[in-house]
Amino acid sequence: MKIAANTLARNAPCWCGSGKKFKKCHLGKEQSPPPIHENKTQTQGKSIYIKTEEQIDGIRKSSQLTKKLLDMVEERIAEGVTTNELDQWVHSETLANGAIPAPLNYGHGKGRRRVPFPKSICTSPNNVICHGIPNNQALQNGDILNVDITCILNGYFGDASRMFIIGDVPDKTRKLVEVTRECLNLGIEQIFPSNRLGDIGHAIQQHAEKHGYSVVRDFAGHGVGIEFHEAPQVLHYGQPGKGEMLRENMVFTIEPMINMGSHECRILGDGWTAVTADGELSAQWEHTLLVTESGVDILTA
Ligand code: MF3
Ligand code: CO
Ligand code: CO
Repeated sequence: MKIAANTLARNAPCWCGSGKKFKKCHLGKEQSPPPIHENKTQTQGKSIYIKTEEQIDGIRKSSQLTKKLLDMVEERIAEGVTTNELDQWVHSETLANGAIPAPLNYGHGKGRRRVPFPKSICTSPNNVICHGIPNNQALQNGDILNVDITCILNGYFGDASRMFIIGDVPDKTRKLVEVTRECLNLGIEQIFPSNRLGDIGHAIQQHAEKHGYSVVRDFAGHGVGIEFHEAPQVLHYGQPGKGEMLRENMVFTIEPMINMGSHECRILGDGWTAVTADGELSAQWEHTLLVTESGVDILTA
């Protein structure tokens, strides 16, 4: 799904690095930086891949499979279903489509995270912020649940997640889920060449805090496509005009985690499950996004 072009705000610092305002510099001339043709650009010592057309084609297909799997979950999810059942359905449907579930065994031997993720999807109910592990507990009336799916198709990664509401949920909870979705959409609106990562984070943070919620800081969106988690980190808070500049053919996720209470989190003894420190509810929505010449293409929509 493509979204029409946005441009840099007139008073924003010009993309060319002159230090002048955009309106006093490149406005009316070239409106955004020329695309980079090498396939990397540096950030804090880590390379951001600028994807080739062939890679974009592969990531698009993988992202569309991820979308299809989420659609399947949406059709079947209900009170009484266990998160292990969701995991098994997605696992077998992923393989049936010639793909591999990226979470399964992810993180093995990497850094301090020595425990490989044991399942094929992440299921994060209620006070779980992210990286919840599917289990045999049945979903109950009043639960909210994030299902996060990443598949690897022909070596390319597509990553997305949605919230599901089980039965009757209080308006207050429903609102958290809706505002979090709006946060993702407002972040997406900030994607166009010459804008910056800080503009995305700022738009999300403003909206969440306006509603009295907090933005989780311990987890971020990320470059994606050739690997599961690539540079750059996409923070869901920040300052306008700061951070890495967006360039055509970058691919990354936005996946705001928004808490009803404080932003603090805690990791359970399983080494993965991130929960809110205060036990309050948390919500998250995620898409894989391509920066295009004219704006953004939502690859998982
Ligand atoms: N899909 C998650 C993300 O959005 C990462 C899950 S890692 C796992 O980045 F190992 F927990 F699956
Ligand atoms: Co992600
Ligand atoms: Co994800």
